[in-house]
Amino acid sequence: MSTEIWTNHAPTPATAPPPGAPAVSTSPSAPVLSLRRVSKAFGRVQALDCVDFDIFAHEVVGVVGDNAAGKSVLAKVIAGIHQPDSGDLYLDGRRTAIPSPSAAHGLGIASVFQELALCENLDVVSNLFLGRELVKNGQLDERGMEEVTQEVLGRIGARMPPVHTKVGGLSGGQRQSTAVARAMLGSPRVVVLDEPTSSLSIAQTAEVLNLIEHLRDIGHGVMLISHSLSDVQAVADRLVVMRHGRINGEAPMTDVSYEDIIAAITGVPNELTRDYQARALLRVPL
Ligand SMILES: Nc1ncnc2c1ncn2[C@@H]1O[C@H](COP(=O)(O)OP(=O)(O)O)[C@@H](O)[C@H]1O
Ligand SMILES: [Mg+2]
Repeated sequence: MSTEIWTNHAPTPATAPPPGAPAVSTSPSAPVLSLRRVSKAFGRVQALDCVDFDIFAHEVVGVVGDNAAGKSVLAKVIAGIHQPDSGDLYLDGRRTAIPSPSAAHGLGIASVFQELALCENLDVVSNLFLGRELVKNGQLDERGMEEVTQEVLGRIGARMPPVHTKVGGLSGGQRQSTAVARAMLGSPRVVVLDEPTSSLSIAQTAEVLNLIEHLRDIGHGVMLISHSLSDVQAVADRLVVMRHGRINGEAPMTDVSYEDIIAAITGVPNELTRDYQARALLRVPL
């Protein structure tokens, strides 16, 4: 594995930035969302260990790593489902907190998790608006919800049957599109997708990958967590590798080979990982 390709992504020092100083750049090319030194433990399991992570607009950032590397916990911190034990979150360079999923929604962060929470016996429209139905003159605004559903499905470029089809009758790719459409209500800036293709056929996977590229093309920052390296290689602009709750490498997708990625995932000892681990242990800034 070549050692120059990966950004040496050792965590920044665990000291807080001086009061008033923006810890994250606010230039136009600045990230929409940033995490700095974020840690999260469950009992003795250190699920996240001093993680620095950025999501930019118009970008798909692929996140890979072995089972239990901390990918879903990272996504859940961003989605407001888990609260970090320590560390800081920044939206547009301003320090923020994401105390709940509804707070995440309010901040423009949408998420879709492995465990798809859709109701089989309800149609596409009802699934999109479940728990947040539109009401007009004291009545359910069926027409309004149908129109918004059509608009969102069109916006994300999803290929779907009529919107009153029950979810139980949809293909896996169409279910995933329904879940993404539900997340897209309210026009979020950041979209977090945790293993969106894990239970899909090849054709359905292609459909979801097209959808992800479309989300990027219309300006969203997309975090794509996947155990499928070919999916990530197909659509990601930037790759982040997690290992044992830490970031073990980060690079533009075009700069890394399959072998590089596997080495970073499995922690094959080399100059890069030795250097990274030494710096991370000492919390030394680069
Ligand atoms: N709610 C939880 N309670 C206890 N441990 C958890 C919880 N969620 C995740 N973990 C642990 O945190 C580690 C990282 O999990 P996760 O982020 O789900 O991994 P993955 O990279 O496979 O998505 C694992 O060891 C997992 O068992
Ligand atoms: Mg996971």
